Amino acid sequence: MISPKDDCSLCGLCKVRTNIVRPSGDLGSKVVLVGEGPGENEDIQGKPFVGRAGKILDKALVEAGVDRDRIMITNTVKCRPPQNRDPTAEEMEACRPFLISELEGREMVVLLGRSAIKDLLGYDGPMNAIVNTIQEKDVDGIRIRFLPTYHPMACVYRKEARQKLADAMSMVREIIS
Ligand code: URA
Repeated sequence: MISPKDDCSLCGLCKVRTNIVRPSGDLGSKVVLVGEGPGENEDIQGKPFVGRAGKILDKALVEAGVDRDRIMITNTVKCRPPQNRDPTAEEMEACRPFLISELEGREMVVLLGRSAIKDLLGYDGPMNAIVNTIQEKDVDGIRIRFLPTYHPMACVYRKEARQKLADAMSMVREIIS
């Protein structure tokens, strides 16, 4: 697994970050969850999914019986996009070698939300057409098994998104147990 250097300047996010947010959890897990990018709390603490989205994700994991320490959690970009905007295609491309190295050899890569789905599957269509369907794809020469699903923040006001995320986490539990 390769990781950005502390002084990484491969994209413009280096100018506005506090910390690089590297993967957390079991770095050798069979399952990796990929979010969009760090938010304010993640930028401060240097850890993924520790703010509001993290609380929603934690609840979904607990309800599905998944121990957060037994999976790996990462993001498409390792530095916070200002004002929590979506990462740009250029920023995701600059960070992709790190991401691909994190995904290699896993049994399942869960894509949380539109940015991760667009980055790794190149899909930008309606979410309900792809959510919770297994997608096998070669990315930069590496065969990866993906499970695209909703981002935790998409679940705040949407019951059906919450249910889909819950179903995806149950699939994760099946793999790691
Ligand atoms: N949202 C994300 O997509 N990733 C994080 O790490 C935090 C919030």
